[in-house]
Amino acid sequence: MRRRSAAAAILCLAGFAWPGMSSALTGAAPLEEKARAGKAAPAEQRRIRGAYLARAANCMGCHTARAGRPYAGGRSLSTPFGTFITTNITPDMATGIGGWNEEDFWKAMHEGKSRDGRPLYPAFPYTEYTKITREDSDAIFAHLQSLSPVSQKNPSSRIDFPYDFEPLLILWRAVYFKPGVYQPDSLKSREWNRGAYLVQGLGHCSACHTERNPLAVVRGAYDEDSSGAQIMGSNWYAPSLTSSAEAGSAKWPMGEIIRLLTTGVSRLATTSGPMAEVVGQSLQHLTKEDARAMAVYLKSLPESNPRPKAGAPALTEEVQKLFRQGAGIYKRHCQDCHGDAGQGAPGIYPPLAGNRAVTMNPPVNVIRSVLNGGYPPVTAGNPRPYGMPPFAQTLNDGEVALVLSYIRNTWGNRASFVTRAQVDKSREGIH
Ligand code: HEC
Ligand code: HEC
Ligand code: HEC
Repeated sequence: MRRRSAAAAILCLAGFAWPGMSSALTGAAPLEEKARAGKAAPAEQRRIRGAYLARAANCMGCHTARAGRPYAGGRSLSTPFGTFITTNITPDMATGIGGWNEEDFWKAMHEGKSRDGRPLYPAFPYTEYTKITREDSDAIFAHLQSLSPVSQKNPSSRIDFPYDFEPLLILWRAVYFKPGVYQPDSLKSREWNRGAYLVQGLGHCSACHTERNPLAVVRGAYDEDSSGAQIMGSNWYAPSLTSSAEAGSAKWPMGEIIRLLTTGVSRLATTSGPMAEVVGQSLQHLTKEDARAMAVYLKSLPESNPRPKAGAPALTEEVQKLFRQGAGIYKRHCQDCHGDAGQGAPGIYPPLAGNRAVTMNPPVNVIRSVLNGGYPPVTAGNPRPYGMPPFAQTLNDGEVALVLSYIRNTWGNRASFVTRAQVDKSREGIH
């Protein structure tokens, strides 16, 4: 097993394409920053604090193109409404926000309005950032203004008809957007409130994890499939943070929640895709206190009704036959890493037995894992993550469906079949 791990390590180093961003800002640890901040002048302290807050909010993640200059914008976010291209938020006078003041910036963060008053699209998660305090907004602004200006023109977003119609956006905002800073709950502890502020505001977790139809005002004009917490324009599903069958933390020990958030892997789960990016670029940089506060809040969230499970197949002779075919594929292609009983290897390869990511509905993430492979994030706590190779070229749709249906129904796992059509649909959406 260890030998094979070495091969996987090479695979990992050679192919670290996701999240596909260099960690330009991952240098200094928050604690060092704190120590430095202790000795610095107030303006400098505010800037350092702003740098920390900008990481907790992962501004850089969206405002940096693949292999592009940090914060200079240009990343495309494709959605069913069109392709949004993020803007340059370095302090360049002509192309960035060099001419902005604290008030302009606060209007963007708190009200979702650009400097000229134009309402911004909620692809910029001001729906969550509105909870950020004025003090924190000013600190983030001070950090951004201290960056070296990058002159890079903003290509225009390509928003499809009818979503490019401004009154529609104004209508959406009237229905769905309520500006307002986070109000602490006086019945809860300081730590809980800090966690809630981080999760609901800076961390903008619900931008991905909560079901919402961003332009649902136009009923019927969009694909029903894109509703739910399936992330717009991608075939990733962001599981519910309030369901134990998905990504809820209520039943997890505190240590495991903190480990998952800050290292990207834990005994019980592994982060992938967009979540690996969130951990790698943002959450791993949280101070110990903030990571703990976030975990305290997440653990306290009441269990919601899990979404209805599509039924597991009855184990007829015909179904058993399909499972045997799936087991054969598993043995050939997967067992070396994930183990003969789906037990994985702690900290290296995730277990598949008893792993809720495997049995989750919809099965889009596991299909995606097998087709595209992937990596947990590179973090201080897990500096050389092992990767999973892509099988899009090796296995056809039928084989992917068979092996997934098998791992969803063995070693105590029980979940619905994955169909060839589901795999095919996923292939189309991969980008
Ligand atoms: C999920 C992706 C995403 C994240 C995270 C994000 N932004 Fe943006 N941001 C966008 C998009 C897309 C736009 C353009 C919206 C539009 O044009 O309507 C934008 C627009 C802006 C604007 C307005 C620029 C202008 O010219 O009007 C500012 C300022 C801004 N973002 C700052 C930030 C800051 C600060 C953070 C972190 C606290 C942040 N953004 C995090 C996607 C993001
Ligand atoms: C850009 C979209 C995005 C944002 C923002 C985001 N998540 Fe996620 N998250 C995902 C996706 C997609 C998954 C499923 C893939 C996976 O399991 O890693 C996920 C998975 C998770 C899981 C379950 C991991 C597992 O395998 O059991 C937890 C817990 C979680 N997220 C917490 C958070 C918290 C807390 C925040 C805010 C600080 C957050 N997420 C912000 C997209 C996002
Ligand atoms: C070289 C070792 C290796 C092989 C071979 C391999 N995997 Fe993986 N697998 C991994 C690693 C590492 C991860 C974590 C990837 C990530 O975080 O994105 C993973 C993740 C997964 C996940 C997601 C688990 C989670 O918790 O999110 C599934 C499902 C999975 N593998 C199934 C398979 C199947 C099915 C096969 C065979 C077709 C296979 N793997 C072959 C190493 C491997």
